[in-house]
Amino acid sequence: MCGIVGYIGNKDSKGILLNGLEKLEYRGYDSAGIATLNEDGVKLTKVKGRIATLRESVDESIQATMGIGHTRWATHGVPSVMNAHPHQATSGRFTLVHNGVIENYQDLKKENLSDVAFVSETDTEVIVQLIEKLYNKYQDTAEAFRQAMGLLKGSYAIAMIDAEDHDTLYVSKNKSPLLVGLGEGFNVVASDAMATLKETDQYLEIYDQEIVLVNRSFVEVQTLNGTVVDRKPYTAKIDASDIEKGTYAHYMLKEIDEQPFVMRNIIKEYQDENNQMKLNADIRKAMQAADRIYIIAAGTSYHAGLVGKELLEKLANIPVEVHVASEFSYNMPLLSEKPLFIFLSQSGETADSRAVLVKIKEMGHPALTITNVPGSTLSREADFTLHLYAGPEIAVASTKAYTAQIAVLAILAVDTAKEKGLELAFDLIQELAIVANAIEVLTDQKEVMEELARDYLAIARNAFFIGRSADYNVCVEGALKLKEVSYIQAEGFAGGELKHGTIALIEEGTPIIALATQENVNYAIRSNVQEVVSRGANAMVISMKGLEQDTDAFVLPHVHEVLTPLVSVIPLQLLAYYAALQLDRDVDKPRNLAKSVTVE
Ligand code: F6R
Repeated sequence: MCGIVGYIGNKDSKGILLNGLEKLEYRGYDSAGIATLNEDGVKLTKVKGRIATLRESVDESIQATMGIGHTRWATHGVPSVMNAHPHQATSGRFTLVHNGVIENYQDLKKENLSDVAFVSETDTEVIVQLIEKLYNKYQDTAEAFRQAMGLLKGSYAIAMIDAEDHDTLYVSKNKSPLLVGLGEGFNVVASDAMATLKETDQYLEIYDQEIVLVNRSFVEVQTLNGTVVDRKPYTAKIDASDIEKGTYAHYMLKEIDEQPFVMRNIIKEYQDENNQMKLNADIRKAMQAADRIYIIAAGTSYHAGLVGKELLEKLANIPVEVHVASEFSYNMPLLSEKPLFIFLSQSGETADSRAVLVKIKEMGHPALTITNVPGSTLSREADFTLHLYAGPEIAVASTKAYTAQIAVLAILAVDTAKEKGLELAFDLIQELAIVANAIEVLTDQKEVMEELARDYLAIARNAFFIGRSADYNVCVEGALKLKEVSYIQAEGFAGGELKHGTIALIEEGTPIIALATQENVNYAIRSNVQEVVSRGANAMVISMKGLEQDTDAFVLPHVHEVLTPLVSVIPLQLLAYYAALQLDRDVDKPRNLAKSVTVE
């Protein structure tokens, strides 16, 4: 994780670095720092805490036209000023920021740097000390940088300044994301174009193990062995207003509210002029050729995958397995003869998913990535990509990407079914439009969810979400949302499974949130609710119109049965949001988390 940014140009760099880091805070926010270089040398400012704290600590009087910055999600070494980036070599000449994990840092330390006195506990300090060591040998910074990159194993995105060179940022990457932005008389470096969109919309993709020398007026991309690479820039298609909060107090609420728009956008993007679904012919072919689909994902995306499994199996009649990426890479199940892998990832950068992608590509299997970030690593490295069209998701807790993933999987399922000649008794496009309206009805009832959150969750130590079949899949997501933003311990359970152990946890007042949107299990889930209520639970039933009972706390507008997760998740997202707010949590940046998880 972590976010890095760099600037070299004619303007003062402090503000650009700090603004960029603010946009990258979603990647980690336990400590931060910047280093600027001017005729007086390198000025380093590091803090434990957020960019706001860093901003207060930076010396306003310093003017410098180049610099690098970092916001950290700790891997090696606790969050502290000492472990915050940028890190410097002992002489103070080389200063560097890094995002990633250097797997062989202990070996490098032992073999090459046994005489160096380290000041931090980070793997990053090893890189910068190694560069200094190599500089002492080659007397050439570019060469030392290149040699050092060749010795690193693991993931890295790096930007470095050399105090003796006021014209170059030294940049490289492997597995971790990094872009170089191009401007008139300046250039920038960033983990994500969002960080520097105010400066430029022209970006160069950097591939793994490339070295980039970034000057004020030119950028040179080289392979690790020094061959110059010709690379054309692309235009980043992010609307700067998409990444602002506007009048919202939190991105999470803004993104919950954006879901009707996202549904409509998906309909627009996946429909042709004849109102038929539009999918790339190669994706269609791959879907038809597969004898089994393996969905690989993490966290909320994994939960969307569980819903997708049902859609693909029920509608397209194709067997699907859903796997947690971090487990799959180390414990691969027996694969079918003609598997197709689907990588579900909002960011397209999740290291656990990427590790699986690398393995299955080595095995020669086809891969489709469904992501919100088309130029992302998982998108580039898979054979095919489907875009979520959800717009940038900034809040750490994923909301609109979850519903977008389900909608795109529904489109894939229906399209595959049609290609197979299977009869479907509903028009998905029309049903998704109904879903968009239903979500709007729900997001218009925020005060009800705010009150339910106060009544059921504000003083809760723990909470359980129960449901059956499609509702169970949504319950695990509802529980994840609640725990990550409110820190209330929450679990999602299959209603029928409670009596096999978990019901022992129910005591007087324990909050239970039950979903009842599926006709065939309506009776069964209500029996489960009775079982917990008789043991003292404070149960809230959220049902679907047509299946409701008088005592239900909330009734969802009716949507097609296979699409209920798209609406039943909305009150759960709102409950989590309001519970977190009432508990005074940092909703958009919950403790210990980061948005883009680029370490395994
Ligand atoms: C939870 C959340 C995470 C992500 C997970 C995968 O709200 O956002 O669980 O879903 O880290 O991230 P992506 O989808 O970017 O691969």
